[in-house]
Amino acid sequence: MTGVTGLGAWALVGRMAPTIAQMKDHPLISDRANRTRPFHVMALLSRAAAREKTHGPSIGMVVGEPDFPAPPLVVAAAQRMLAEGRIHYTHALGADELREAIANDYWERDQLRIRPDQIAVTAGASAGLLLVMSAILNPGDEVLMADPSYPCNREFVASAGGVAVMIPVDATSQFQPTPDQVRQAWTAKTKALLVASPANPTGTMLSEADALALAAVVRELGGVLIVDEIYQRIVFDGNRRSLLSLGDDVISVNSFSKTYSMTGWRLGWVVAPPALMAPLERLSQNLFISPSSLAQHAAIAAFAPASRAVADGYRDLFRQQRDFLLPTLQSLGFRIPAQPQGAFYGYCDVSALTDDSYRFCLELCDAVGVLMTPGCDFGDVQSQRYLRVSYTKPVSVLEEGVHRLETFLKRTSS
Ligand SMILES: Cc1ncc(COP(=O)(O)O)c(C=O)c1O
Repeated sequence: MTGVTGLGAWALVGRMAPTIAQMKDHPLISDRANRTRPFHVMALLSRAAAREKTHGPSIGMVVGEPDFPAPPLVVAAAQRMLAEGRIHYTHALGADELREAIANDYWERDQLRIRPDQIAVTAGASAGLLLVMSAILNPGDEVLMADPSYPCNREFVASAGGVAVMIPVDATSQFQPTPDQVRQAWTAKTKALLVASPANPTGTMLSEADALALAAVVRELGGVLIVDEIYQRIVFDGNRRSLLSLGDDVISVNSFSKTYSMTGWRLGWVVAPPALMAPLERLSQNLFISPSSLAQHAAIAAFAPASRAVADGYRDLFRQQRDFLLPTLQSLGFRIPAQPQGAFYGYCDVSALTDDSYRFCLELCDAVGVLMTPGCDFGDVQSQRYLRVSYTKPVSVLEEGVHRLETFLKRTSS
């Protein structure tokens, strides 16, 4: 085959390192790939990298990952396993020992009896969400979710042929969907409601009463409630039970990424009703064969008391970092209409400082090398008013960031 649609053209495209715009026009690129939105923050990060060459390090309040290493016992377990060289496929739903350790953790910390055979270990919450969507959606089926929310969720739904339907939320409901909104948005094609608690980008949570009400509506409408609990163990005002307590028809997606600072290990899990386990297993076998066995065997050590203490220490540092950063930002004109109760984010209304938060983020980066994530990465509703700050860096670094921000604001207001 020759000509623009042929493999020759494809190879040529590869050799000439085309721009994203050129790739978009290439006939071999799928419509879905073309529709997938890039993260705006990537443009910011590449500008920051260029700026760093001449101006020195940036201060990042931007990434969604802890700044810590994995707990030492996890690292030691991985080193042992590497030395032994036993790194092979596991069962598609994960190694028995790890599934037992996860189930045991739910019992010890949430007083929930979850059976290991209800747990599917996955390559991060990302693969978990993808598997769940593939297991429940037919083409055209709809999944409700909040705007703003974690942007990849739209793509997990689209990958399974589904349609993400956004529910506009604001601070009046802690940026969480309400039962009335769910009822109104529900159609004959709706299969599920996806919520996160604590949520990204807001750090806000569903109260137990609100979660119960949402679960009841979804049940009544014949759908399934999917809860993303990847920040469940990073909650600042006491432990919150997993929303699996709402009933055995709820699907929960979780991960080692944030709690144990194991983002790059790519390991998470799904807890699902029994009827979903065989479909999840078939999909996991075919799409992934198994999650990483190195990460799985190391992750068993994440549940040891010493590792839990390390993770609790990380959570306490996030709390201190939040308690420094957010009031300071508020004193500089950022408004935080819903205080984050967990995770490591604050969703800030900067409309008193700018009418375009994306432009504000770019200017802040260019002028003083402080990085924040514009609201347009999380949704469309009023996103130009908002930006997300992450407080994953130590207070000393955040202090330097705030100092630079003050300089920037003084310059722009004079
Ligand atoms: C709400 C939410 N869900 C899922 C993920 C994906 O996490 P993982 O690293 O476990 O794939 C993220 C990552 O930032 C997130 O914020």
